[in-house]
Amino acid sequence: MSEIHVKKSTPFSADIKVPGDKSISHRSIILASLSNGPCEISGFLPSADCWCTVEAFRELGVPIEVLEEGPYGPTRLLVTGKRGRFDAPGNPINCGNSGTTMRLLSGVLTSQPFEVVLTGDESLSRRPMDRVATPLRQMGAMMRGEGKTLTAPIHIIGTREVKPIEYDMPVASAQVKSAILLAGLAAKGKTTIIEPAPSRDHTERLLQYFLVKTIRDKNRLSIWGGQTPESRDLKVPGDISSAAFWIVAAASMPGARLFVRDVGLNPTRTGILSVLLRMGARIQEVVDFSDGEPIGSVEIHGTKLKGVEIGGAEIPNVIDEIPILAVAGALAEGKTTIRDAKELRVKESDRISAVAESLRRMGCSVEEYIDGMEVQGGASLSGATIDSLGDHRIAMAFAIAGLFATGTTTIRDVECIGTSYPGFAQELKQVQR
Ligand code: S3P
Repeated sequence: MSEIHVKKSTPFSADIKVPGDKSISHRSIILASLSNGPCEISGFLPSADCWCTVEAFRELGVPIEVLEEGPYGPTRLLVTGKRGRFDAPGNPINCGNSGTTMRLLSGVLTSQPFEVVLTGDESLSRRPMDRVATPLRQMGAMMRGEGKTLTAPIHIIGTREVKPIEYDMPVASAQVKSAILLAGLAAKGKTTIIEPAPSRDHTERLLQYFLVKTIRDKNRLSIWGGQTPESRDLKVPGDISSAAFWIVAAASMPGARLFVRDVGLNPTRTGILSVLLRMGARIQEVVDFSDGEPIGSVEIHGTKLKGVEIGGAEIPNVIDEIPILAVAGALAEGKTTIRDAKELRVKESDRISAVAESLRRMGCSVEEYIDGMEVQGGASLSGATIDSLGDHRIAMAFAIAGLFATGTTTIRDVECIGTSYPGFAQELKQVQR
């Protein structure tokens, strides 16, 4: 079990480029596999999570060739689409730590007339899969799992006769929405999803980029079955959720400067910037366009931030950034309140209790709510030993907190960082010099 040791940093100046977006990397493999021919994917995130998706589709008979390796793994791949007709795998498919792999794959498997078993690591095997099973069963899939919330191992048997549905989603979840869209692609007719609040829209954008027709009417999203995605090459932008760690570090440190280039700036993901702007951050965004996704650069100059309220429909947009936003709250003047974020309790760890406990260890006062927390900002942080609980975003958020704390901060069990941001520790060394 390896550790990261962090010391208090002086104001830094850095130009960075973060690795490929995790959500888009998963989807690029899935859409390319469903397409009618070869697709070259560049800027792919060489992380453990995304590699699970690659291995899953290889198991399903999709040829996926590595064209280029970066320092942390494959970054350019050639996927040859199978027009949505896959082979029955000989073995269970291991989704590792990746909820996105398990949930989106369930959507794809709804149209495959054979049995597949999906397994995951200890954390993924605790996460609820009933949220995808409920709509996918209505569409004709047979799905079985453990206990009331249907945890892994998941057994799924699909059908060539996928039924279109109209589904009112009880939770705003891009993973659930995407699973239904992917099943709907093979349904006989129109499938409609009603979203309680907007969630990341990468699946809709990628479907459109692959010339699949979807229609959005306010919170209703429809797809017509029987379409085959048209094979195309694709460039994955940098992941704003990875950039978020450095953005918060720079924004909260008077005298620091940071320039992030080639980062995804999809408005369903840039809530982190809106929240920081409300906290008084000095941020400039320049947006361009590439392969259906907004991409651009962000420049940040550090200042003293102030506490803010985060909640409501904004939550799905910042769901992965709450741990680092709570750290920003601890560094700001005044209190930061996070509400309506109960979903955090079923992520890679219970992120509400993990964040509250870790902030307290560093000397910050936090009140925990069922659906969020209140963080008292302004106290000076002291170095502590933080257990990542195997959750990559907890590990990274508290490594950043360590840059502001007296003494040494030790983050334990940091292998998990590789699920989304290989190279984070190297980048951290650059910032600390
Ligand atoms: C993701 C959606 C989010 C997010 C996860 C990735 C995706 O989960 O937390 O890290 O790629 O669709 P939910 O859709 O379950 O909120």
